[in-house]
Amino acid sequence: MSVTVYRKAHFNAAHRLYRKDWSDEKNFEVFGKCSYPNYHGHNYELEVGITGPIDEETGFVIDLGILKKIIYEEVEQPFDHKNLNVDVPEFENMNPTAENIAKVIWDKLSARLDASYVISVKLYETPRNFVVYTG
Ligand code: NI
Repeated sequence: MSVTVYRKAHFNAAHRLYRKDWSDEKNFEVFGKCSYPNYHGHNYELEVGITGPIDEETGFVIDLGILKKIIYEEVEQPFDHKNLNVDVPEFENMNPTAENIAKVIWDKLSARLDASYVISVKLYETPRNFVVYTG
């Protein structure tokens, strides 16, 4: 029997979607307003789900205090109030789309968590647009 526990988090960040090897016109054609050269921001909402068995001694799947700390160190601290293209090394040569941000978050969290957990990362870029990455 397994249970999924969730922790929500939030960060504000700027980004620009574009390819360096494309012209501004081509970037606008593909990425629209998200390609504007001077960046723009989003209020990202994150939901991290951790699935595993309930520990018989503690009654926990995972100590949410530990999960909170890991999300803070791996996501909020490095991403909040940052320019993702400029400040986050993972996006130096990768478009910071919601898809890629969710995958980067999943990779960072999974490196810190026991391999037996099933991890899901749900990332809202706007209240209506969101992605889910499960590895
Ligand atoms: Ni955007």
